[in-house]
Amino acid sequence: MTLLPLHTLDGSMDTVTLGRTGLKVGVAGLGCGGFSRLGLATGKTEAEAVALVKRALDLGVTLFDTAAAYGTEGVVGQGLAGSRDKVVIATKGFMNDGDTLLPTGKLVASLDSSLKLLPTDHVDVFQLHGVRAAHYDHAVKVFLPVLKREQEKGKFRFLGITESAASDHSAQMLSRAVKDDHWDTAMLAFNLMHQHARKAVLPGTMAKRIGTLVMFAVRNIFAKPERVAKAMKELANEGKVPKALGDDPNPLGFLIHEGGATSLTDAAYRFARYEPGIDVVLFGTGDVKHMETNIASLNKPPLPAADRQKLIDLFSHLLGVGLEGATPAVRAEAERLRAAQKM
Ligand SMILES: NC(=O)c1ccc[n+]([C@@H]2O[C@H](COP(=O)([O-])OP(=O)(O)OC[C@H]3O[C@@H](n4cnc5c(N)ncnc54)[C@H](OP(=O)(O)O)[C@@H]3O)[C@@H](O)[C@H]2O)c1
Repeated sequence: MTLLPLHTLDGSMDTVTLGRTGLKVGVAGLGCGGFSRLGLATGKTEAEAVALVKRALDLGVTLFDTAAAYGTEGVVGQGLAGSRDKVVIATKGFMNDGDTLLPTGKLVASLDSSLKLLPTDHVDVFQLHGVRAAHYDHAVKVFLPVLKREQEKGKFRFLGITESAASDHSAQMLSRAVKDDHWDTAMLAFNLMHQHARKAVLPGTMAKRIGTLVMFAVRNIFAKPERVAKAMKELANEGKVPKALGDDPNPLGFLIHEGGATSLTDAAYRFARYEPGIDVVLFGTGDVKHMETNIASLNKPPLPAADRQKLIDLFSHLLGVGLEGATPAVRAEAERLRAAQKM
């Protein structure tokens, strides 16, 4: 049995400042979307999802990241009842439906619905969800003035933007956004084998003190070692990683040793957490045990320097590994849940 460090069991955890928002938050943020959506996507009940949120609070999580599209705002609100003043709530709304840009009124309606479902009179961070590079100019010209008016009404404190990583592997949208002064936070993809943000995004966020939240630190690939082996074989066949790694059934096994990581997910969360410029690492789960170990991982020291360097040497040139998007079925189910909660 793995013993968890005391500091994650007594409700405290390492704290960071979320860039220029000045918000002090726990380094481990609960991602209420992803493939688990607090367990709602994997067969758990709403009551179990609410209990998971409450357990996160007990373990010292202070940042909760949800979205209109996840269908989890209702359970997040129930889990956080009575604790609103102790937590930072981030939610998101879409400006597009696939290729089609939405009218601004739809985004405002989405924000209003988020406030009702959570329920709160304001969220701390409101984020434009998954903005595509092709839509960025429109976001600034058309959506930004509307959002500023909603912010002045007090519906949210800080404005953020998240990338559409599954379709924008080279972070074209965020590498532009971080040059602007509009965004208080940026949510970006970063993992053991997709380190592109180090050069493309993080220098910009650090220069402008934009708060950063990492997604895709684990996703599906680093939660399932067999997927790593499959991806590595494909990359080796394409000549992008050494052949020996492609032939190895456990190609990232070198990270797990005495004094190093205890598991692949442990390595993945710690690697992301200690990347210079990263503030919060989001972990998505529907499993209390996973939550406990993830929070423990994110409160551990960095990976040994030699292991980190090896990851950089082997993989920093790769683009898009592990950036799997939500399937249409997952999106449809989230939409159904949200609609049901509104009734
Ligand atoms: N564009 C956007 O705005 C956007 C896109 C994607 C994600 N996000 C945000 O980022 C958050 C994180 O999302 P993510 O999908 O990247 O999540 P993640 O934390 O990288 O990985 C989640 C996956 O790993 C599994 N997992 C978690 N901990 C584990 C452990 N200790 N052992 C084994 N498996 C484990 C989870 O399944 P279990 O339920 O079994 O634990 C889930 O399938 C989301 O919740 C969301 O808030 C935002």
